[in-house]
Amino acid sequence: MLNIGIIGGGICGFSCAVKIKEHYRDKAKVTVISDQFTPNTTGDISAGLWGPIYCGDTSERDIVRWSKGMHDFLHELWLTDKAGEAGVCLVPCIRATTDLNGLKPYWDDVVFGFSKFTQQEVDRLNKEQNKDYKEACRFVTFTSEPMKLLPYLTKRFESSGGIVTQRKVSSLAELVKDSQFDVIINCTGLGAKEFVPDDSMHAIRGQVIRVAAPWVYCVLLDDSDDGNYIIPNVDTVVLGGTHQVNDYNTTPDAGDRKLILNGCRQLMPGIVCGREIREMVGLRPGRSSVRLEIEPTANGKLVIHNYGHGGSGVTLAWGCAVDVLDLLVNNTKSKL
Ligand SMILES: Cc1cc2nc3c(=O)[nH]c(=O)nc-3n(C[C@H](O)[C@H](O)[C@H](O)COP(=O)(O)OP(=O)(O)OC[C@H]3O[C@@H](n4cnc5c(N)ncnc54)[C@H](O)[C@@H]3O)c2cc1C
Ligand SMILES: *[C@@H]1O[C@H](CO)[C@@H](O)[C@H](O)[C@H]1NC(C)=O
Ligand SMILES: *[C@@H]1O[C@H](CO)[C@@H](O)[C@H](O)[C@H]1NC(C)=O
Ligand SMILES: *[C@@H]1O[C@H](CO)[C@@H](O)[C@H](O)[C@H]1NC(C)=O
Repeated sequence: MLNIGIIGGGICGFSCAVKIKEHYRDKAKVTVISDQFTPNTTGDISAGLWGPIYCGDTSERDIVRWSKGMHDFLHELWLTDKAGEAGVCLVPCIRATTDLNGLKPYWDDVVFGFSKFTQQEVDRLNKEQNKDYKEACRFVTFTSEPMKLLPYLTKRFESSGGIVTQRKVSSLAELVKDSQFDVIINCTGLGAKEFVPDDSMHAIRGQVIRVAAPWVYCVLLDDSDDGNYIIPNVDTVVLGGTHQVNDYNTTPDAGDRKLILNGCRQLMPGIVCGREIREMVGLRPGRSSVRLEIEPTANGKLVIHNYGHGGSGVTLAWGCAVDVLDLLVNNTKSKL
C-alpha cells in the first residue's frame, strides 16, 4: 500500500488530497499535514473567481489545461446537490482595461459565452463608470469561495478515508528521513520559501473588504494595473484589491482601504450601501512560474512539488491535482 503525505492544507493541498484518495481508495493511505486549515489559509481570503492572474511566466498552454481542469470540476459540482454547500456559483463577468491591448483572453474557450465589447459598448461602459477603458469583454464563469469549498473538500477527503493532521513540518529533510511516507507532495504555498530557500517565491499582497450586498449578482473587474474588482460570493461580496509584490504586511492598510472603497464605488456606486463584514489581507504565493514537478530523493522516496500558484491558486487547483496524480501513477507503477 502506498503511503502518501501531502504537506499544506490549502486549496492546492486538498484538491490533490481528494483527487489522489478517490483514485487509489484503499490502495493508498493519504495524510494531509498542515499548520493552518480553513478558515486560516490564503484561499480563505480570496473570492475564488475563476481566472488566471499573476502566475508569472507559467506557459499559457499549462494555464489553459490546468484552469480548464478546475472549470470542468466546478461545472460538474455545480450540477450536483452539493453546489450550494461547496459555494460554487455561476456568474456573469465583465473584465475591462484602460491599457491598450491589456486584455489577453487566451482562456476564452474555457469560459462560457465569451465575447468582446464593441466600441459602442466600451463607450457606454466608460460613461457609466467615468473611466477610459480601451477594451472589455463579457463571459460567464464560476466562483468557488474557498471558505466553503475547503470545508466541502475536507469532508469529502475524510469520508473516503483520508487523514488530516495539524502540525508544522520544519523541513523536507526531516520528513524524507523520519516519516513512513513513500511519496511527499509539497503544497505549502508561500511556506515553500521558508524551507531551504526557493529564491523565486515571494508574496503578492492582497487586501480586500467583504461586504453584505445581496443585490450584486455580477463580477466587475478592472484589469488595469491599479484596477478594482467586485466579486459576489454566496453570502458576501468581495471588494478588491491590491497586488503588492514583496509586501509581507498582513495588517489592513488605511490607504489601501481608501483605494478599494473609492475604486469600487466608481465601478458600482450602490456598493457603499453594503454593510461591511470584514477587512482582510492575504499573501499570494508568487513565483516566476508554477512549480509542478517530481523529484526522487536519495533514499528512494518521491517528492512532488505543487506550489507557487500566485493569484490563481483556486483557478488552477484541480487541473494541477490531475497532473500530480498523473505523475504519481506514472512513477509508482512498480510499487503497486
Ligand atoms: C486577496 C486575494 C484574492 C485572491 N483571489 C483569487 C481568485 O479570485 N481566484 C484565484 O484563483 N485565486 C485567488 N487568489 C490566490 C489564491 O488564494 C492562492 O493562489 C491560493 O490560495 C494558494 O493556495 P495554496 O494551497 O497553494 O496555498 P495556501 O492556501 O497558502 O496553503 C498552504 C498551506 O500550507 C501550510 N504550510 C505551509 N508551510 C507549512 C509547513 N512547513 N508545515 C505544515 N504546513 C505548512 C499552510 O499552513 C497552509 O495551510 C487570491 C489571493 C488573495 C490574497
Ligand atoms: C484559525 O485561527 C484562529 C485564530 O488564530 C484560531 O483560533 C483557530 O483555531 C484557527 N482555526 C483552525 C481550523 O486552525
Ligand atoms: C517544498 O519545496 C521547497 C522548495 O523546493 C523546499 O525547500 C521544501 O523543502 C519543500 N517542502 C516539502 C514539505 O516538501
Ligand atoms: C503519464 O504517462 C502517460 C502515458 O505514458 C503520459 O501520456 C502522460 O503525459 C504522463 N503524465 C505525466 C504528468 O507525466
